[in-house]
Amino acid sequence: MTTRRLVLSRGAALVGAASTGLLLPQIVRAQSDRIRVGLMLPYTGTFAQLGVAIENGVRMAIDEKGGKLGGRTIEWFKVDDESEPSKGVENAQRLVQRDKVDILVGTVHSGVQMGIHRVVRGTDVLNIIPNAGVHAATRALCAPNVFRTSFTNSQPTLALGKPMMDKGLKRAVWISWKYAAGEEAFEGFKDSYTKAGGTIVKELSLPFPNVEFQALLTEIASIKPDAVACFFAGGGAAKFMRDYAAAGLKDSIPLWGSGFLTEGVLEAAGPAAEGVMTTMHYADSLDTPRNKQFRLEYAKAFRMQPDVYAVQGYDSGQVLVQALAAVKGDTSNKKALYQAVEKQAVDSPRGRWTFSNSHNPIQDFYLRRVENKDNKVIGIAARNLADSGAGCRMA
Ligand code: PHB
Repeated sequence: MTTRRLVLSRGAALVGAASTGLLLPQIVRAQSDRIRVGLMLPYTGTFAQLGVAIENGVRMAIDEKGGKLGGRTIEWFKVDDESEPSKGVENAQRLVQRDKVDILVGTVHSGVQMGIHRVVRGTDVLNIIPNAGVHAATRALCAPNVFRTSFTNSQPTLALGKPMMDKGLKRAVWISWKYAAGEEAFEGFKDSYTKAGGTIVKELSLPFPNVEFQALLTEIASIKPDAVACFFAGGGAAKFMRDYAAAGLKDSIPLWGSGFLTEGVLEAAGPAAEGVMTTMHYADSLDTPRNKQFRLEYAKAFRMQPDVYAVQGYDSGQVLVQALAAVKGDTSNKKALYQAVEKQAVDSPRGRWTFSNSHNPIQDFYLRRVENKDNKVIGIAARNLADSGAGCRMA
């Protein structure tokens, strides 16, 4: 593991320095010049590919600007959080207390995020959330040192209800994993769909990360709603779309969802994904020079196509590059550092966005349709959509 290697080599350097005496002050100064950045992401399990895309994006943004932050060399520390909430606190403590990171970039899963939050809230560690949408992190439990570059769980689905009703889909079944991300995505869907006049005829769920969809698909077939709306992501999303098609529902009951459903899985889902409609703060086919250049460079660097997770990682890297440049690499004045982050207007492949007062992106949401293994933009589903930030009082 990278972490252990770094610790060992540092120990060896110090032993060598101690024996020569003279070298020690120099080495200590060189080390404190370094900036310590922790990556706490899933590298195994159903969200493994999300973690990889995020890390790729973070590194790409930093490498584009010379590979340093505020002129300081980066020392990286990595933890695989496995999307396992029960290990969230312990994994975050490894980075914060043992590795003493200045910055913690993490994570993907909302439950694990709450573990990170318990560890970083009230500390001086700058936490950039590159995916997990759990409401509390930028609502009731918001914090000066915690910033999200992705979304809140209800943001994409707040944009979903109206386009469904515009298509005349008046009775819908909701289905998702039963944990914060699925439940909060449902909140957004319920709000937008019922306000637009729709009726949710059934709410179905299964535990995360189960992918035994068969019984629930049989139930959907017997209800015969006008449409199904859902939250799934990663490997589970690909399986859900394949099972949905295999159950014979694809052509009779249109499938809609928050856009994670079709992110990074279009190869794995194959024809089962064609025609699926989603709302998301990004789309592969966004026709801007910024997005085209990003996609080209990412594909060249990593030999794979970027997705929304890569974009969120990239924006996390951009925010760090710009904020650390603004404070000239000085992380000792926390107030100045957090202000520098707050002020960022991010020139993202998704389009320009800024942070809300509760440190969550204010951004556009696109309506997309899968066509030829591509998330094709159909239109704008919501412009400058901000999360409510309900209950946020910055300390
Ligand atoms: C979450 O757990 O917050 C989560 C995970 C995967 C996604 C979106 C949200 O694609």
